[in-house]
Amino acid sequence: MERTLVLVKPDGVKRGLVGEVISRFERLGFTIKAMKLMCIDEDLASRHYAEHIGKSFYSDLVEYICSGGVVAMVVEGESAVEIVRKVMGVTNGREAAPGTIRGDYAVNINENIVHGSDSLESAEREVALFFPEL
Ligand code: RTP
Ligand code: MG
Repeated sequence: MERTLVLVKPDGVKRGLVGEVISRFERLGFTIKAMKLMCIDEDLASRHYAEHIGKSFYSDLVEYICSGGVVAMVVEGESAVEIVRKVMGVTNGREAAPGTIRGDYAVNINENIVHGSDSLESAEREVALFFPEL
């Protein structure tokens, strides 16, 4: 069993896609172990996206992720890290395959609906960042 961090990003929340995202993971048999609606402040954003500090898109990324409510959740299941990423689709919605969340709901790289941890190590770090009580 693996656990991974999923975020429904501000555009996903504003567009009413929270249920849609959750149901895609539920129908795979995954379990939602924890979930909350929250706002990400700059401090949390800089820790969550630490690997991107210094890149050209970093300030836009922080502005976007802090621009409205997000739904953070811990998703648990067999190979959850890899499968969640597959269901999300590639980063740029324009290139994401139809049938994936980004392929079905996003048309660019900046507002791409969801986040999923990209490795077991990231998942452990990100779950601890968003749900220190777990
Ligand atoms: P995320 O972390 O949000 O789940 O997305 P990801 O793993 O698919 O992509 P990542 O490389 O971690 O990038 C984080 C977010 O930064 C924005 N980005 N913009 N303009 C660009 O070249 C660029 N590259 C990345 C995206 O919004 C991406 O989700
Ligand atoms: Mg990433």
